[in-house]
Amino acid sequence: MRIVNVGICGIGTVGSGVFNVLSRNLTEINSRANCQINISQIACRKDNPDIDATSTHVTRDIFDVAKNPDINIVVELIGGTTIAYELVMMALKHGKHVVTANKALIAEHGMSIFEEAESRGLLVCFEAAVAGGIPIIKSLREGLSANRINWLAGIINGTTNFILSEMDAKGREFSDVLAEAQMKGYAEADPTFDVEGIDASHKLAILASIAFGMPLSLDGLFTDGITKLEPQDVSYARELGYAIKHLGIARKSLSGVELRVHPTLVPEQCLIAGVNDVSNAVMVNADSVGTTLFYGPGAGSEPTASAVIADIVDVARTMDSYPDSWVPPLGIPSQSLQSLSIMNIENVETGFYIRFSALDKPGVLSTVTTIMGDAGISIEAIIQREQPAGESYVNVIILTNVTKEKYLDEAVKHIEELDTVRGYVNFIRVEYLDQA
Ligand code: HSE
Repeated sequence: MRIVNVGICGIGTVGSGVFNVLSRNLTEINSRANCQINISQIACRKDNPDIDATSTHVTRDIFDVAKNPDINIVVELIGGTTIAYELVMMALKHGKHVVTANKALIAEHGMSIFEEAESRGLLVCFEAAVAGGIPIIKSLREGLSANRINWLAGIINGTTNFILSEMDAKGREFSDVLAEAQMKGYAEADPTFDVEGIDASHKLAILASIAFGMPLSLDGLFTDGITKLEPQDVSYARELGYAIKHLGIARKSLSGVELRVHPTLVPEQCLIAGVNDVSNAVMVNADSVGTTLFYGPGAGSEPTASAVIADIVDVARTMDSYPDSWVPPLGIPSQSLQSLSIMNIENVETGFYIRFSALDKPGVLSTVTTIMGDAGISIEAIIQREQPAGESYVNVIILTNVTKEKYLDEAVKHIEELDTVRGYVNFIRVEYLDQA
């Protein structure tokens, strides 16, 4: 049987998962790959007690793997975008196929990596870069290849979903849940990538590029995290019949492409509203199939390893075939990708949830609703909380109909200028997805 030698760089959470799943399921994996997959080298800064690497050659220098003449596939699991980029480019220059789970690397340097790979007749695969164990890249690129994709929306960061679910269901503190996500190996090395939405923006850029056939780019992608969310917003949203989810949304319309990552109110009856813990889910709406939903674990050692190994199997099975028969990294040949105009967030249309603190006296609410009306915004629901004894301000929550963000910004500015309103107006976008 043909032998395919694999070198794994990085043996942390994902790397150890790849090593263990490959060792455990090797017979089945070899049958599927129609060859014998052999982990011939591992590069790691320090040994990982979660794996038994006694029969594998271990090096402390990742570049040894990129240069090793016996290796066919380099698996990059070190993360980051500087050394990882050097490693991947060196591996390609030495004629190795590459598998990576690194979304930041693909989102920022994917185009030059693919160009290098294409010029050398090599494969670069990155299924594990988006939505952990869910085979969303393969589904978009191959399973939905008949379709024009209209939009996709997903929970694509497991850590933020875990935090929001725990805050919602158990009223836990943000920092306490984040620490647990770190302990479980869900969070990035720098967890601000998770909670500020940067990790999700890398993943959204990859999904949108495949969905709409455009080059990878983070330009114009609007990114907001979950750090400004308050527990009271999670419970007010519930009172109104919504869950708050951190979504990545890409939508193509005649006005351009929307690319945005932010906390979002979604109706409770929408399937994605019930996706909790570290799970991810991506909805894809396309012209022929309608709306599909891809659901599963979005982070963690073995779920992510499942996606990495699927790529290893793909490469091992196809690497000796003619490159014209390979599926290009972004679904279509790079010369056919087309740059599309990305919409400024101020022109994007959504519903809005707004919350502010207002003096409890006659006429205040009517002034606010007049401001909203003047901005052309219609109101769907209002909640006014009874003030605690001795408190003269009350919390007001308003749900608006769909409007352009710039009209909402204008109304918010006027509301904040009122003497009867204290502090800032907080707002969160609302999406109806397939419930519209
Ligand atoms: N930190 C990422 C997440 C890991 O929480 O989703 C998987 O990409």
